[in-house]
Amino acid sequence: MSLPDWAQVTPARRAHIERVAALLGEWAEAMRESRTERDRWLRAAWLHDALRDAPLGDLMAHGPAAAERAAREGERDRGVLDAVRYHTVGSPDWDNVGQMLYLADFLEPGRDVDPDGRRALAARVPAERDAVLREVARRRIDWVLRSGWRLLPETVAFWNQLVGRPDGPTVRRP
Ligand SMILES: [Fe+2]
Repeated sequence: MSLPDWAQVTPARRAHIERVAALLGEWAEAMRESRTERDRWLRAAWLHDALRDAPLGDLMAHGPAAAERAAREGERDRGVLDAVRYHTVGSPDWDNVGQMLYLADFLEPGRDVDPDGRRALAARVPAERDAVLREVARRRIDWVLRSGWRLLPETVAFWNQLVGRPDGPTVRRP
C-alpha cells in the first residue's frame, strides 16, 4: 500500500504518513486484528493527509477533500472515508478505523512535543485502547482550547461520547 497517485505532499509529510501507517500496522499485529481490518486502517493512513499540502486555502479542508477524492476514486468503506474526513476534529460516528487513525496521527514517533510521553502512550494502545484514546483526545482538545480556537460540534460530540462510555469518569455535581 502507498500514497494515492493524486496525493500532494511534501517529503516531510510523506514521512509522517509513512510513520502513521507503520504504527497502525504494529498495533494491528499486536491487537491480532484481521488482515481486512488492518488494511482498512492502512488505507485510512495513506489517505488522511494525501491533500494536506494541496492549495485548498483552509487548513481544515484537507480531510474532507481527501475523503471526497478517495470516494470518487472508488473507496467505498464508510468507516475509512469518515476516518479521513474527520481526522483533524474527531467524530462521534467513527468506527474503529477513525479512532485508530486519530491515535496514530498524534502518537507517531516523529512529532517533537513530549516524545517520551507519547511513546509510552503508543505502547499502551494494544492493551488499553479506550483509556489512551481519551488521553489523546484530552491533549488534542486542550491544545485547541489553549490556542483560543473554536471547538467544532463534532469535537464536542466526540469527547462526550468518549467520556460517556461505561468505564469513563463520572462527573458528580455537588
Ligand atoms: Fe496526519
